[in-house]
Amino acid sequence: MTSSRVPVPNPLGILLELTHRCPLHCPYCSNPLELDKRSAEIDTATVLRVLDEAAELGILHVHLSGGEPTARRDIVEITAKCASTGLYSNLITSGVGPAAALLPALADAGLDHVQLSLQGTTPVSADKVSGLKGSHEAKMKFAAEVDRLGLSLTVNAVIHRGNIGEVEGFIEKAIELGARRLEIAHTQYYGWAYKNRAALMPARPEVERSIRIVEAARERLSGKLVIDMVVPDYYALRPKACAGGWGRKFMNVSPNGRVLPCHAAESIPGLEFWHVQDHSLGDIWQNSPAFNAYRGTAWMPEPCQSCERKELDWGGCRCQALALLGDASLTDPACGKSPFHSRIEALAASEAAETAPPDYIYRGPGQTVAAREHEDVLP
Ligand code: SF4
Ligand code: FES
Repeated sequence: MTSSRVPVPNPLGILLELTHRCPLHCPYCSNPLELDKRSAEIDTATVLRVLDEAAELGILHVHLSGGEPTARRDIVEITAKCASTGLYSNLITSGVGPAAALLPALADAGLDHVQLSLQGTTPVSADKVSGLKGSHEAKMKFAAEVDRLGLSLTVNAVIHRGNIGEVEGFIEKAIELGARRLEIAHTQYYGWAYKNRAALMPARPEVERSIRIVEAARERLSGKLVIDMVVPDYYALRPKACAGGWGRKFMNVSPNGRVLPCHAAESIPGLEFWHVQDHSLGDIWQNSPAFNAYRGTAWMPEPCQSCERKELDWGGCRCQALALLGDASLTDPACGKSPFHSRIEALAASEAAETAPPDYIYRGPGQTVAAREHEDVLP
């Protein structure tokens, strides 16, 4: 890893993972295998100081996330702090548990935006994925409360083999719920989701169909609903600029205060993360070893180093290179120029072709397992 000390513009957004506690058990969860315990979560005073520092850095957006962020007792105070410091607040929530009851207080505190996850479009399909009976019904009530309070709503649907046939339904549901934005996000295989990849991988024709549906809906619903789409890396020809490029736009604070360049960065061995308890956000952004490890282009190997896209996608995803190739500093194998690209395609095709895919391994308390040592790193 080579540190490249190019001038570093300040970040635009910060994701505060306020807790890893969550009422749902989704198999596609991208949180790490080892979750932070409640006793390790940073306290209210530290969160409020971090928000002051974020505002001073010129950060515009704060995403209050988790786990389920409303599981924290201080979520109203945290939201009020976002408002008083001029930070645009986005609550990323399951809508289950205390979320609906807290919404009026959150709206009073100045909450700007709500992002609600849906696992399916019917109680049967959604509850099967969330692993919690009644979760879909709770989400519908939550969305009605968002509407009643006049809050701005985005619906997020993580797509996989189990619900890829519901893309049209997600679009209809988003309109029905009064959302102005819908994210159709194909599963990213990090953290817990990586364990479930064989159960979640859709087939290429289904992926292509989902893309056609979204493209047609974008045209039809222009001015009414914005639809963002994250295509599956395993079927892509070029990788995404993960997190907007390592250390370029975005910071992620884990529940216990480690500051990460992306939410899966802790899967990369040898990176040194700094904590908000020990350093200011500005110091971490400029100087922490983890942020400088893959910042800029100096660290890049070939084919990235001589590629005309290297300042567009920044070499793709480091965590995916690690998970699939065992080396975070290689070109993301989602890229067609990677010498390993054909293998990732073959892997996806063989998993998707499995007529009897494995059962979901649900996420839940006590289901933290020892991290796999990249056991299916591509040969
Ligand atoms: Fe991006 Fe590297 Fe692929 Fe070029 S070779 S498109 S920089 S990942
Ligand atoms: Fe870590 Fe993509 S998830 S760089």
